[in-house]
Amino acid sequence: AAEKLSICCIGAGYVGGPTMAMIAKQCPDIRVTVVDINQARIDAWNSDKLPIYEPGLQEVVEEARGRNLFFSTNVADSIRDAKMIFISVNTPTKTYGIGAGRAANLEFVERCARMIAEHSDSGHKIIVEKSTLPVRTAEAVKRILASSARPGVSFDVLSNPEFLAEGTAVEDLLAPDRVLIGGESRDAVQTLVDVYGRWVPREQILTTNLWSSELSKLTANAFLAQRVSSINAISALCEATEADVDEVASAIGTDSRIGPKFLKASVGFGGSCFQKDILNLVYLCEHFGLPEVAAYWEQVVQMNDYQKQRFTRRIVKTMFNTVSNKRIAVWGFAFKKDTNDTRESAAIYVCRDLLEERAKLTIYDPKVGIEQIKSELAYVMQNDPARYGGDVEKLIDENVTVADSALAAAEGAHGVALLTEWDEFKQLDFQKVYQSMQKPAFLFDGRNLLHHRNLTEIGFEVHAIGKLC
Ligand code: NAI
Repeated sequence: AAEKLSICCIGAGYVGGPTMAMIAKQCPDIRVTVVDINQARIDAWNSDKLPIYEPGLQEVVEEARGRNLFFSTNVADSIRDAKMIFISVNTPTKTYGIGAGRAANLEFVERCARMIAEHSDSGHKIIVEKSTLPVRTAEAVKRILASSARPGVSFDVLSNPEFLAEGTAVEDLLAPDRVLIGGESRDAVQTLVDVYGRWVPREQILTTNLWSSELSKLTANAFLAQRVSSINAISALCEATEADVDEVASAIGTDSRIGPKFLKASVGFGGSCFQKDILNLVYLCEHFGLPEVAAYWEQVVQMNDYQKQRFTRRIVKTMFNTVSNKRIAVWGFAFKKDTNDTRESAAIYVCRDLLEERAKLTIYDPKVGIEQIKSELAYVMQNDPARYGGDVEKLIDENVTVADSALAAAEGAHGVALLTEWDEFKQLDFQKVYQSMQKPAFLFDGRNLLHHRNLTEIGFEVHAIGKLC
């Protein structure tokens, strides 16, 4: 009989945690251990308060945890005991040296490969790249494994990029549009196909060569981000011409070749992936001698930066060209609704630029706390402290407070900037919000979330993306 499969996943983050919880839920006979070097994160996975917020995740984890799903910091034993090892560590943009600001930092991935070689003491193991990686990384992973493997130990390397979106991770894992598996060994590919095949229809499991699989993930994110930047570019033109970007989006979205999804104009995309993955794609194109292709994709990121800056400039201009010492309520700090993830959130950059203008910010986000907000702001401002008057920590401490509701944040404010599309913002008592604010009561809807005509009738001066209100 075939040896029973056991899985280890290195990296208990936004991808490793939910993905492995779903595999464990769907395959009660497979033992799944998720390991991380971050003790606090592992403790949280083992507690009632999971380290990440995703609708429905708590239930999935609770069903499998302790049965066949385990979270641990014991990386060595978990590697040794597993037949299949997922690498799901972070691959941030490199901040130093060659390719700084563009290339992916692969030090964590390489460390995983070395740890796997070191702690694998017998038999054959299947290594699965789950992290988003530059095309041809598997080649490096294979070489590291082969060159440090103990005698009698062998490896296959597969690429299995993750397409889940934060905020809908559980839904996406339960019914993915497709699962992508790239690899050279048919047996190894089949072993992983059989795992997903427990709940994903076979025709939705695509198998390709390794390099296509690696490149498809970068390409998917580049295309998605490109749609956002495309509609955002049009939103600027709408504002100049009295066209309405939501009307334009639905008019073009009914064309089946274009399709209606991902055409929502906004203050700009955020999240840990889009920008990082496009910059990585740009770097790769340059590396492979394709500067025209690199420049093409880089525009997607530049348009996003422009959109964020444009939003802040509009706030300042509208509020009589100064926000100095004015209180601005910021509704939402997460990069999108239904997640507590703030990495690369547009809110960080809007808040930073408002602080540079010496505004006083009162921020409310249903899932993000003060420490996280302050550390995100400090992180982006510390690059250039002089721009913010020198002492960044002091500027933040003196000018950023957090409220425990959207209403409380708006109380006494000169303006509101809505930056994350949380559903609860639609249900507010806007009459009350209006009464508590300074007049004129400015409202900047960075997500085109609210009912603008109702707000205008109440008395707000509303500014939205790509339309007159
Ligand atoms: P994350 O930062 O939330 O989690 C990564 C975890 O790996 C951290 O907890 C870190 O402590 C751990 N880690 C790093 N080095 C380690 C080591 N040597 N040993 C043990 N643990 C180690 O990152 P996230 O968001 O889960 O992303 C992981 C990968 O998945 C990235 O390549 C990302 O591009 C990709 N991805 C992310 C998606 C997302 O929505 N966040 C979606 C699809 C792919």
